[in-house]
Amino acid sequence: MTESILPLLGVALCATALLQLLLWSGQSLTQWSHTRKQFEISREALRKQIEAFQSEHAEATEEIGQWNGYREFVVDELFRETKLSTSVYLKPVDGKSIVGFRPGQHMTFKFDIPGQSKPLVRCYSLSARPGDDRYRITVKTMRRSNSEAGSGKVSTFVNQSLMIGDRIQVKAPTGHFFLDEGSTAPIVLLAGGIGITPMVSMIDHIVHTKSERTVILMYGCRNSEEHTFKDHLKEVSERNANIHVINVYSQPLAQDQEGVDFQLTGLISLDLVEQLLPNNHFQFYLCGPPPFMNAISASLIEWQVPESRIFSEAFGPASVKRAKTRSDDDSAASTARVQFTSTQESICWDNQFESLLELAEANGIVVDSGCRAGSCGTCQTALLRGRVQYPNGMQVDCDSGQCLTCIALPDGDVELDA
Ligand code: FES
Repeated sequence: MTESILPLLGVALCATALLQLLLWSGQSLTQWSHTRKQFEISREALRKQIEAFQSEHAEATEEIGQWNGYREFVVDELFRETKLSTSVYLKPVDGKSIVGFRPGQHMTFKFDIPGQSKPLVRCYSLSARPGDDRYRITVKTMRRSNSEAGSGKVSTFVNQSLMIGDRIQVKAPTGHFFLDEGSTAPIVLLAGGIGITPMVSMIDHIVHTKSERTVILMYGCRNSEEHTFKDHLKEVSERNANIHVINVYSQPLAQDQEGVDFQLTGLISLDLVEQLLPNNHFQFYLCGPPPFMNAISASLIEWQVPESRIFSEAFGPASVKRAKTRSDDDSAASTARVQFTSTQESICWDNQFESLLELAEANGIVVDSGCRAGSCGTCQTALLRGRVQYPNGMQVDCDSGQCLTCIALPDGDVELDA
């Protein structure tokens, strides 16, 4: 009897275990399905949160008042700074916000000047600190004219003919020359002539932000007649213990008083800089005319100032001459032939030229230009054949198939649509 019951008992136990297993599996499947649903819901919620964050973030990072290309501005105010220089205050015609900038940056302007067959493009540094609802530039009349197309025409127009209410096409602030606010190193600003403009923007920003960085401005100009922002800088240095101004006149007038209008006579040189500074542990910012820029930047490097601590602004003929690079002796460059579509002539490259723009102009080929230093994009020209090189890099993006002729050198034979 017992023997006959045992198998039945075994079968019953197995059936119970199987039933429990099925029940457990069913519960687990239900739970898993529920969990998966929850996971999907969470994933969907997370996706929505990410999208919301991205869109919010995109709005936050889209700078208020930014624009692409040219935007129309109106002359809001004109102020005669010296006999030869005028400050121009500009507001956007559309009345909307303007974008901020970093002290030291510049803007590109397109001027329609009566009698000129086409607009003339120029770059000018912003001469006020960021944070205002209008921009200010300060333009000095060029004394001489040279072979550069339109040279002196814009500065003369601004100083003699520009009126309040006139309209100008303007590109947004840009440029790699600006105050390094991530550093606390003391600063030396070396300005020549109208190269004072970005320095004023930097100094006013430092004062406005209550930065205690030491600033030493060495400002070279001819005499009191060309001493732009004289009263403003005097007042700023008297009110702020960390701002020091040393004015160096090259040709003081009879009425100019040493110790009052200026501190030193002569030109800003490394000798002078070395005499005035305890060491070279400063950040150096340079802006001025070509001889000034070239002499000072070379001298600072000789004085063992690391290039990473030398910042310079380069506009037009004021460009710092490029350092000699491998390409100067590169046979691909030195034996290159450059063809322009307008003449169909094949011209031998010559290393005496600083750029393809210079070569074009020397051969009577007109290429539009603005900053002449790779900052504004005006000289962009289609590169139909070959390759170019940029020994000192590029500050603006260049469209595919184009090149910035003001800073480009041929890298072998090239053909340009100019
Ligand atoms: S003229 Fe401005 S980038 Fe060449």
